[in-house]
Amino acid sequence: MSIAHGIKQLGVLGAGQMGAGIAFVSALRAKVPVLVHDKSQEQLSKGLALMDKLLAKDVQKGRLQQADADEARARVRVVGSLEEMRDVDMVVEAVSENLDLKRTIFKTFAQTLKPEAILATNTSSISITKIAAATIPEGKGAASEEAKATTSRVVGLHFFNPVPVMRSSNGWPVPQKLVELISAIQTSKDTLDRARAFAEACGKEVTTSQDVPGFVSNALLMPFLNEAIMCLEKGVATRDDIDKTFKLGMAHPMGPLQLADFIGLDTCLSIQQTLYHGTGDSKYRPSVLLERMVDAQWLGKKSGRGFYEYNDN
Ligand code: 3HC
Repeated sequence: MSIAHGIKQLGVLGAGQMGAGIAFVSALRAKVPVLVHDKSQEQLSKGLALMDKLLAKDVQKGRLQQADADEARARVRVVGSLEEMRDVDMVVEAVSENLDLKRTIFKTFAQTLKPEAILATNTSSISITKIAAATIPEGKGAASEEAKATTSRVVGLHFFNPVPVMRSSNGWPVPQKLVELISAIQTSKDTLDRARAFAEACGKEVTTSQDVPGFVSNALLMPFLNEAIMCLEKGVATRDDIDKTFKLGMAHPMGPLQLADFIGLDTCLSIQQTLYHGTGDSKYRPSVLLERMVDAQWLGKKSGRGFYEYNDN
């Protein structure tokens, strides 16, 4: 028997490529009203423009009725503060990969939102358990009922970029069809079940992972991308041949250097640092070339330059 997610209204914090995508699939597929907040007006405008573009494309391709597109768009509302999200049944945080920032946000969530709201993070690698611990009310012990009431509602809901993509033109499975569900050691079964049901209502398939650095996806993906960057650094092969090896040899939709650019080199670096410091294992040490490129603000597609150059920003 399927479990009802019970989400009548969703909050999404952060309107970058992940947050905008999560808001989009929630409004279009799960058909829930979504409140979006981002401190950057520019980011919000970009996120909303992306949603408009994707809806218009689906209508133009005959996959969506104009009325359904209009309804989906009308479900998304921008709010000016976290306080305006107080009535949501679930919030998904999709801000940058910074533990202190996430801890501050989750503390505010616990103080502001309804006492039964699910508090989800889209983090790619940071410990869900550490984020959950930030919700313990001040002056209360970790074993108190008050702590249990907040920490048990924190969960990892890790979407894949670009979140809106649900099909491939050649019929192969697409990576973005996935959501990785991660349980902190404090997360309750009810929170996990409802978070899973919500991801499924968004049209996603769900895998589960323990709360280890990088979970399953990035613990495997990041060393692969890093090795590709080291190959380039050592002059083993050219950029194009490294990428071609995986596109033509292993049917990857993108080569590893192109994929690193697409994810964002700063995001790749911060995930690799979390893996390296979280495990102490040298196999996760980020390549010097990656560090230098981030130093130079060559962040990949989003900044117009990474391993490739992009003119469409
Ligand atoms: N946002 C929304 N939709 C997008 C998009 C974007 N940024 N880029 C492409 N799309 C859509 C297109 O509109 C098109 O949709 P349609 O079939 O409904 O018309 C569909 O994707 C295919 O696009 P294209 O035909 O233009 O191009 P491709 O066939 O080359 O596909 C791609 C583009 C979907 C990005 C494909 O190259 C791909 O799947 N690449 C791998 C991406 C990947 O591995 N993602 C996971 C990254 S890891 C991660 O996110 C985890 C994090 O923690 C690091």
